[in-house]
Amino acid sequence: MTGRIIGIGAYVPKKVMTNDDFAKILDTSDEWITERTGIKERHFADHITEKPSTMAVAAAKKAIEDAGIDPKDIDLIVVACTTPDLVIPTMSCVVQKEIGAKEDCGCFDVSSACPGFIAAYNTVQSFIESGNAKTALCIGSECNTNFCNFEDRGTCILFGDGAGAVVVRADENCKRNEFIMRSDGSRADCLTCEAARQPDRWDEEGFKEATSFYMQGREVFKFAVTEVPRLIKDLSEKYNFDLEKDVDLFILHQANSRIIEATAKKLGIGIEKFPMNIMKYGNISSASIPILLSELKAEGKLKPGMKLVLASFGAGLTWNANYITY
Ligand code: ACO
Repeated sequence: MTGRIIGIGAYVPKKVMTNDDFAKILDTSDEWITERTGIKERHFADHITEKPSTMAVAAAKKAIEDAGIDPKDIDLIVVACTTPDLVIPTMSCVVQKEIGAKEDCGCFDVSSACPGFIAAYNTVQSFIESGNAKTALCIGSECNTNFCNFEDRGTCILFGDGAGAVVVRADENCKRNEFIMRSDGSRADCLTCEAARQPDRWDEEGFKEATSFYMQGREVFKFAVTEVPRLIKDLSEKYNFDLEKDVDLFILHQANSRIIEATAKKLGIGIEKFPMNIMKYGNISSASIPILLSELKAEGKLKPGMKLVLASFGAGLTWNANYITY
């Protein structure tokens, strides 16, 4: 059996940071940010009540409510996060406690930058397909602002915070999980952030800056507009579906509207099939896809039986895509 998404939930922090707010602290403008990225505003966590673990719990509770299940039915929780507030315990164990899941529920976290949600989703599906789980929670939660260098105008304006979650339940009528996952570690230097907890290096020149997100923006942009369309084409060939006729929506990682537009153009698919919420949230890394799914459901734009392509890309470099029936 393969799993079907039966519930979706999201949490975004209350504080909104607009492009004009950035223009007050950096040499930038609403016009530059909007034109280059499509972002108008993003949500910033307060870092006290809104942490990756607490936001993961909030999104999970909403997904469980949406699914209409008892938390005791959940037998696997996987949280994708690259910006955790906790090293131990895993955030999935915090979620387990806070939602009241049972003791024999498997819990672990995965880290794969922006494609983390898809990595977590494929992990959950593998557990379900191997008969090791029936009902799973798959969460993406990020506090990117903990890792932004607010003096680096080319990077910090891109990111926001938040969490999204889905409940995936084994369904005998579901087709096998169809996906491709790719990585290229030789291009790791394009997007980096070193762990701050390395006391032997604290006096090293440049170490403080290295512990914030560093990004070669143009290189990442070129990578995304080349590899993401190729990946989606390869997915359609591998699983024998037609991109025009057999896909209702393309749910892409929300990193830059120009990347999404370029992908649609290269695939020859109308941009109306590529929903976006980047203007409101910026790049929320592994949370961007489940938050977008949650909004589409709330707006009545996501209906049972719809065929979706999910695709994400980011640090690693890593890029993944799935073909799913909602
Ligand atoms: N405001 C005003 N000017 C700026 C800003 C800013 N916020 N940021 C950079 N500039 C300037 C630069 O200094 C440069 O000036 P110069 O020509 O005088 O040197 C000029 O604008 C152009 O800079 P570029 O970096 O070349 O601008 P580009 O058009 O490439 O846009 C951007 C930058 C938006 C970051 C783009 O490259 C991008 O979106 N890249 C992809 C990022 C991404 O998708 N990351 C996803 C993965 S994230 C993860 O995995 C954690």
